[in-house]
Amino acid sequence: MINFKELIAEKIANVTEIEKEEILGYIEVPPSDDMGDYAFPCFKLAKVLRKAPNMIAEELKSKIETDENIVDIQIVGGYLNFYINKLVLAENVLKEIDAKKDEFGASNYGDNKTVIVEYSSPNIAKPFHIGHLRNTVIGSALYNIYKFLNYNTIGINHLGDYGTQFGKMIEGYKRWENEYDLEENPIDQCMDIYVRINNLCKEDENVLNACRENFKKIEDGDPECIALWNKFKDLSLKEFQKIYGLLNVKFDSYNGEAFYSDKMDEVVERLDASGALVDSEGAKIVDLEDKGLGVCIIKKSDGSSIYATRDLAAVLYRAKTYDFDKCLYVVAYEQNLHFKQVFEVAKHLGISEKNLKGLEHVAYGMVRLTTGKMSTREGTVIKVHELLEEAIDRVLKVIEEKNPEMENKEEQAKKIGIGAVIFNNLASTIIKDQVFDWNIALNFNGETGPYIQYVYVRTKSILEKLGYVPTIDMVDFSALQDKASIAILKSLYNFENVLKQVVDKNEPSILARYLIELATAFSNFYNDNKIIDDDETVKNSRVYLAYAVGNTLKLGASLLGMEMPDRM
Ligand code: ARG
Repeated sequence: MINFKELIAEKIANVTEIEKEEILGYIEVPPSDDMGDYAFPCFKLAKVLRKAPNMIAEELKSKIETDENIVDIQIVGGYLNFYINKLVLAENVLKEIDAKKDEFGASNYGDNKTVIVEYSSPNIAKPFHIGHLRNTVIGSALYNIYKFLNYNTIGINHLGDYGTQFGKMIEGYKRWENEYDLEENPIDQCMDIYVRINNLCKEDENVLNACRENFKKIEDGDPECIALWNKFKDLSLKEFQKIYGLLNVKFDSYNGEAFYSDKMDEVVERLDASGALVDSEGAKIVDLEDKGLGVCIIKKSDGSSIYATRDLAAVLYRAKTYDFDKCLYVVAYEQNLHFKQVFEVAKHLGISEKNLKGLEHVAYGMVRLTTGKMSTREGTVIKVHELLEEAIDRVLKVIEEKNPEMENKEEQAKKIGIGAVIFNNLASTIIKDQVFDWNIALNFNGETGPYIQYVYVRTKSILEKLGYVPTIDMVDFSALQDKASIAILKSLYNFENVLKQVVDKNEPSILARYLIELATAFSNFYNDNKIIDDDETVKNSRVYLAYAVGNTLKLGASLLGMEMPDRM
């Protein structure tokens, strides 16, 4: 596709002798269309050129020639506003969509660089809560988009499958085995056992010691304890898979904390060799006080490892195994300090500068329910599996009410319900705390997943009404020069760039916002124009535009993990 921004940068670079790359960084998209399609803020050059922005603007305007792509230049308050040729825009965008179809927007931006996206990472034998849901949705979207831009992408589920809680689980299970049927509702049953044994531990020191002993046995390879531990793991994973299945989420690796249990000695050795490891009251620590990060315990006085030790072992393993360019940790911001510590200590592991620079905590905000903060103790944890089922049920009820004749109701309801939940999790900047509200998530008219799906379905029904998909050579680009059509074309043109921004900022909400914009632009177009026009050429051109929008909505939504229904 033609790159208007670059053409403009070249023109400015040619008459100023300032590097094109630098100019590119200054070019903006003006807030409204009547201010042009691109704007160059001349004050950026005031210092180097030692002139007032207005004078620079005058001078540049007189020197730069317009051509068939850049058709006009205007000066407004120290800005140079550039106007592009909308016919060239229309032709470029629509031909690109015709040529690339489902690959529209894909590029070689990643140049096959290796990116690890670690996400979801729930804890075994504990509930998968709505925080994990948000994590899973964010991580999966990032994973899809990195892949689409030709990064060598590896998705890792860093399961919380290690630690003293398993000693407790084993103890509880051994005591009350015949009171529970773990095959049915395993997570609930496990939770029950866990809460019960925890209370007992508080009352009775001996029980706590027995639990610790059990965990020690896991570490020492005791077959009975290992078998039970694996049992809990399998049961939990089965539950989690149901959720992943509904969300259509995949991982390349499930190497969780336990995987690193035999890889921690090397961390200790390397840190020791680097001189960073010091003894403190029998424990081994790395002192990060001078960085304002406290101390990071590597080995407790009883010789056992902690969460951070396993994360360091994971950094080392991933550096060796994948030699990553980026290693992203999608984890709630509550763990900010933890990751600051881990990344700081990792500097002493002897891994490459490239690997170190690639470590990044992609932090996201808390999720609350409208009813308040969730708490395991008070039983207000919404179970994600139930939430997803409820979303589907609610949509199904609406369909039964409004459109009982619809074909494949269940399937459509599933796509809409799950899509609503996914979009709701991505609609605002990920660092923002979020309140989950059914009325907002499932609103067909708001800035929601169902709204995007609704607009998509509308584009589909236009095509059905026409009875055929026009081919690109039936399109007359000059029939698409009204305000509403141009707004769509500009939005479509932007798609590729939006995807690049998502990976630059690790912010999938940029794509979510974009889809709302595109859908809204289409709604305006739909209201302004008669699409099935009497004029054959106008009709084919407008329908083609509708097809292009539908295609892009579907593609963008699928990158976020959403599926499109056929009917709504
Ligand atoms: N299992 C942890 C939790 O649920 C998250 C793990 C995050 N990843 C990591 N590498 N520490 O809170």
